[in-house]
Amino acid sequence: MTDRKLRVAVLFGGRSSEHAISCVSAGSVLSHLDRTRFEVIPVGISVDGTWVLGSGEPTDLAIRDRMLPIVDASGAALTLPGDPTRKELVRIAGDAPGEVLSGVDVVFPVLHGAFGEDGTIQGLLELADLPYVGSGVLASAAAMDKEFTRRVLRADGFPVTDTIVLRGPDGTGATFPTITAQQRDRLGLPVFVKPARAGSSVGITKVEDWSELPSAIATARRTDPKVLVEAAVIGREVECGVLEFPDGRIEASLPAEIRMVAENSAGWYDFSAKYLDDACEFDIPAKLDDDVTVELQTMAVAAFRSLGCQGLARVDFFVGADGCLTVNEINTMPGFTPISMFPRMWAVTGVDYPALLSILIDTAMVRGTGLR
Ligand SMILES: Nc1ncnc2c1ncn2[C@@H]1O[C@H](COP(=O)(O)OP(=O)(O)O)[C@@H](O)[C@H]1O
Ligand SMILES: [Mg+2]
Repeated sequence: MTDRKLRVAVLFGGRSSEHAISCVSAGSVLSHLDRTRFEVIPVGISVDGTWVLGSGEPTDLAIRDRMLPIVDASGAALTLPGDPTRKELVRIAGDAPGEVLSGVDVVFPVLHGAFGEDGTIQGLLELADLPYVGSGVLASAAAMDKEFTRRVLRADGFPVTDTIVLRGPDGTGATFPTITAQQRDRLGLPVFVKPARAGSSVGITKVEDWSELPSAIATARRTDPKVLVEAAVIGREVECGVLEFPDGRIEASLPAEIRMVAENSAGWYDFSAKYLDDACEFDIPAKLDDDVTVELQTMAVAAFRSLGCQGLARVDFFVGADGCLTVNEINTMPGFTPISMFPRMWAVTGVDYPALLSILIDTAMVRGTGLR
């Protein structure tokens, strides 16, 4: 072992609807990585999917005056070969195509949504034999897909929402399906209509009247041909961070609650509530009875294991008035923005942001690639 710094490629941006949020997350990661241990190589992925050497300047990646950042595609275009003997970033355009820009020891895919959090980038990194932060191919794909998350969790006995899945066109020329009268009665109003594979509340509508259902389905379909129509759960929104340590321990953070400030919000945690407006208040940690906290933490770790997650996840719950829990979703690459819950929950649990990033990278290095 040499004592040179570990070369960490931080990937951000990407082709998903959460491009901007990934940039903001990466800006925060770049400014908190321990530079005494890590040499950081920022790699932006443009909205078209082109990989470029990023500026690495965290302020370029912040939300300013409600303007969302995007990857500046004018940097040196590069690629990461899937060839496991390479482990390097290679220039693919300009005066010196083929030039090696940097070796890579470990990758931190700070990517949210499709082509990032869904197993695809994880597949490339497995091919390239490069360790990476977070879950592998299967867990990433299963957690990205809200239908399959529910299937896996339901099979393992977890309480999940009552959901009807509307699939994309089946080639028969049939008009896009909607839910039946019987299903309407079963779900009741309101319902949440959401793309099966998205995040940051993109494409989600809360439907209060059945006449709004077709346009809500159409909205969701602009993001994903597969759409979920889901019974609304009445309850508090509480999230819990799960972290895998280099020695294999899997632990839950203290949970946190998101509370909508009624006059500033649509009454649910939509995109602008998440990132733009002062529509939410956060209790970090959440004010829950101790027994509910312990049950929620236990369930968060169990759900992490149920899906076969690795490294980190944020498990999101609804907590009913009687303390009963429903698992809403599992995010395998939760937000890392300055206001994101995952780093803040770990901070109140005693793991500060730089230490959290170091644990994630150390765990990735210990775990390596391949079957595990
Ligand atoms: N079944 C539901 N019951 C009540 N609120 C919901 C439900 N589904 C979604 N929501 C609201 O919409 C938000 C976003 O939905 P979620 O399924 O978490 O999608 P995303 O992956 O985009 O975060 C939730 O944080 C919550 O405020
Ligand atoms: Mg969510």
